[in-house]
Amino acid sequence: MTNFPASIANPNQALWEKGDFTQIAAFMRQSGEVIVESLGITPQMKVLDLGSGDGTTAVPLARLGAEVVGIDIARNLVEAGNRRAAAAGLRNLMFQEGDACNLHGVADHSFDLTLSVFGAMFAPRPFDVAKEMVRVTKRGGRIVMGNWIPNDPTFVSQVLKISSAFTPPPPEGFVSPMTWGVESHIIERFGQAGVPKENISMVKDTYYFASPDKTPTQFIDLFENFYGPTMNAVDAAQKSGRLEELHNQLVELAKAQNKSKDVGTLIPATFMRVTVSL
Ligand SMILES: C[S@@+](CC[C@H](N)C(=O)[O-])C[C@H]1O[C@@H](n2cnc3c(N)ncnc32)[C@H](O)[C@@H]1O
Repeated sequence: MTNFPASIANPNQALWEKGDFTQIAAFMRQSGEVIVESLGITPQMKVLDLGSGDGTTAVPLARLGAEVVGIDIARNLVEAGNRRAAAAGLRNLMFQEGDACNLHGVADHSFDLTLSVFGAMFAPRPFDVAKEMVRVTKRGGRIVMGNWIPNDPTFVSQVLKISSAFTPPPPEGFVSPMTWGVESHIIERFGQAGVPKENISMVKDTYYFASPDKTPTQFIDLFENFYGPTMNAVDAAQKSGRLEELHNQLVELAKAQNKSKDVGTLIPATFMRVTVSL
């Protein structure tokens, strides 16, 4: 018997455990709260936050009185989320390790709402992900996803595009996470999970990455040092002697898109908000 390192056993997990997404999430708290406030949360509502990270949306969901489970593939983020829940005294919030492709151990029809903001889109096997989200959500309940949009001119799509231009091509059969931002794919994936297209609404919305005191250049430094997909691009660019080129492209992008009037960062990014009624 061979014991494979975790990175070979599950590259998806290795990618998100490689860095420390909490460093980026610190810029996402305000928009996370705005999304949660739009969801009509009522006390005791059962909510799954899938690809929850350290709780950008799970913490505000719990503050509104929902019973929240955060599931994430990255063990470091599960631990960070549980630390945040404990520090906030939120007993109605727990984080656990799990894979959006196969939510084994989660019973059918457990949740009134399954929320996944830039989370489940990063799991491989999108058809399995749609099926699992439908399976664990109650009939009469909802699934809400926030997904980045391919080839969009705004920040995140461009960061991922620049990063992938410096990274070796993905393995054969790899499905880009960005396809979750395309209407026809969304309809097809939920369609195979048994949801008619009349039950799916898709609207573009704006997310803000905000910090009062960190500059756009410091924000990019965090991407390069802590955000798995950009860290991989940095590793590859270092090997090919193109690190400065990558860094300059990212900094230029962040500066060009920054709307802050002072030293801080306020960068808008367009995403697809998907609501599925079951
Ligand atoms: C861009 S972060 C967003 C985190 C969080 N939703 C937020 O808004 O701060 C993507 C998250 O999806 C998680 N993730 C990636 N693949 C996953 C999978 N297969 N199953 C569950 N979580 C996954 C990552 O570990 C990471 O926490």
